[in-house]
Formats: sequence, C-alpha cells, structure tokens
Amino acid sequence: MPEIISTPQPAGCPTPVTKGIILAGGAGTRLDPLTRIVCKQLLPVYDKPMIYYPLSVLMLGDIRDILIISTPKDLPDFRNLFDDGSHLGIRIEYAEQDEPRGLAEALIIGEEFLAAESCCLVLGDNLFHGNLDFFRSALRDNKGATIFAKAVRDPERFGVVELDAEGNVLSLEEKPASPRSPYAVPGLYIFDKSAPSRAKMQQPSNRGELEIIDLVNSYLEEGNLEAKPLSRGVAWLDTGTPDSLLEASSYIGTVQKQNAFQVACIEEIAYERGFIDAAALAALAEAHPNREHANYLRSRARD
Ligand code: G1P
Repeated sequence: MPEIISTPQPAGCPTPVTKGIILAGGAGTRLDPLTRIVCKQLLPVYDKPMIYYPLSVLMLGDIRDILIISTPKDLPDFRNLFDDGSHLGIRIEYAEQDEPRGLAEALIIGEEFLAAESCCLVLGDNLFHGNLDFFRSALRDNKGATIFAKAVRDPERFGVVELDAEGNVLSLEEKPASPRSPYAVPGLYIFDKSAPSRAKMQQPSNRGELEIIDLVNSYLEEGNLEAKPLSRGVAWLDTGTPDSLLEASSYIGTVQKQNAFQVACIEEIAYERGFIDAAALAALAEAHPNREHANYLRSRARD
C-alpha cells in the first residue's frame, strides 16, 4: 500500500485533518427485528452496506487513516468487509465499544489511534450526498471544533443548533422537546486534538451516556466552535426508521439510475482521490464477483 505521508504545517496554521473515526455501535432498536442479527450500519442502502456511505465521505475528505468502532459482536463483520483497507490505499483499524456508553466515548476509545491529532468523527448511519467542498474546506480550516447545520422539518429528533444572524452558535441541545431552531446537527464532527481529554472529563447524561452534544458544547463555552450550514445541494439522509431507510435506498437508487456514476463506490473514490492507481482499480474489478460492478470499475479505470 502507498505510504501515507502527513505534511508538517507551519506553526499557527490549522492542521488539515487526516484521521477519521467511524462509530458504528448501538443496538439499532428502532429498526428491530432488522437489526437483531445484522447491525444497523451493515444493513443495505440500495446496493451497498450502510457504512460504505460514511466511509466514502471520509475518503472524499482525503482522510486515509480510519478507525472503525463497533460492538464486540459486530466488529468481526466490519473487519471481514474492509480488512486493513490497503486494497483501497487507506489504513483501517478497529476498536470495540463494549457497552453503549455514548457517542463521545468514541474519542476516548480512539485516543491512542488519534495520537494527539485532530480528527473527523462520522456516525456510521449518516449518509451525505452532493458536493462535499464544504466538508473539505472545514477539514482544512478547523481550529477548535466544527459541526454542520441542516434545516429539517423534525429537529426534535436530532441534536439542534441555534444560530444568530451571522451564523454564530448560540446554543446546542440534544433532542429538545421544543427546538429553538430548525437546524439539526448531522453526525459529522471535526475536533482538534483536545477532544479525547475533554471526553474524559464529561459526566454521563441522565440516560447514562457521554453525549456528543456535551463534548461539542465544551468547545462552544470557550468560543471555539464553528457551525457551517450544509448548502441546499447537499443531501443528508436519515436511516433511523424503516421509512427513512427505505427512502434513503430509493434516493440512492434514483440518483444512480439517472447518472452514469455510482454513489459511495469506495473503489472508484480510492482511484479518483489518487489512493490507488488505474492498475490497482483494474485488479479490484477483476477480483469483483459482481459482474455489473466489475464492469463499472473497469470503465472507471479506462476513463
Ligand atoms: C445522534 C446525535 C445527534 C445527531 C444525530 C445525527 O443521535 O446524538 O446529536 O443529530 O446522531 O444522526 P442518534 O441518531 O444516535 O439518536
């Protein structure tokens, strides 16, 4: 696999984020019995396991050093799916979250992997589609923490961020009964290197979890948080209920059928971002058991 080199930055400049964590834990009870045997993040979204989508977001942000966190029961499945990532020109490590102690625990579990570097955390059930320039520039510009904001019809189902007219963050709340704004916080966060130590200082919430919103709030209290609105051209798809899962599948299916391109084709992304060369992509095509997909990869390698 090609060596992953990180370029040293001059002092005072934000360092581009090169490490990513995908949190793929949780019991997925709202989707039971679908999730009784297969974990939520491995359920199909149209023609791929759900985790392909958040993984592709990290890869499109040129993040090649990735930690997947899941339950002891499900982690072997992720390992079987991606191995060490070298076929994609990336490096994937795995770590267990043995109890559902909250999303912010991912930063504690990932502390050694992060080795005092900044990171991007993406939840394994969050799908984004569209122009990801907003994400790439946030990875370049992050100082403390960066979150994103998307106006939705049902903000009470999510973390909610309240913004002033200039886009400054006024407040953050997790699933408030009466949301102060229509802006939901998608499961995509950028943190500086202090995130693990902050998470360790957190107290569990009433439901006994280390809440991601509390971690983000610690940056807000220091005036070190930015919230960037997702532009209208970016779709953020929810997969939390059977209906939203079905809609996400239909959306991806429609987009793929209307275009000559696939969404979240990780082999193609690895090639387009320069993680692997055309010969490596062609070799992945040869080894691919699905003839249609193999042909697609071959055509990308020829382009
Ligand atoms: C989590 C976060 C919430 C965020 C959401 C995005 O909620 O706690 O702040 O808005 O992910 O998907 P969950 O889906 O785990 O209930």
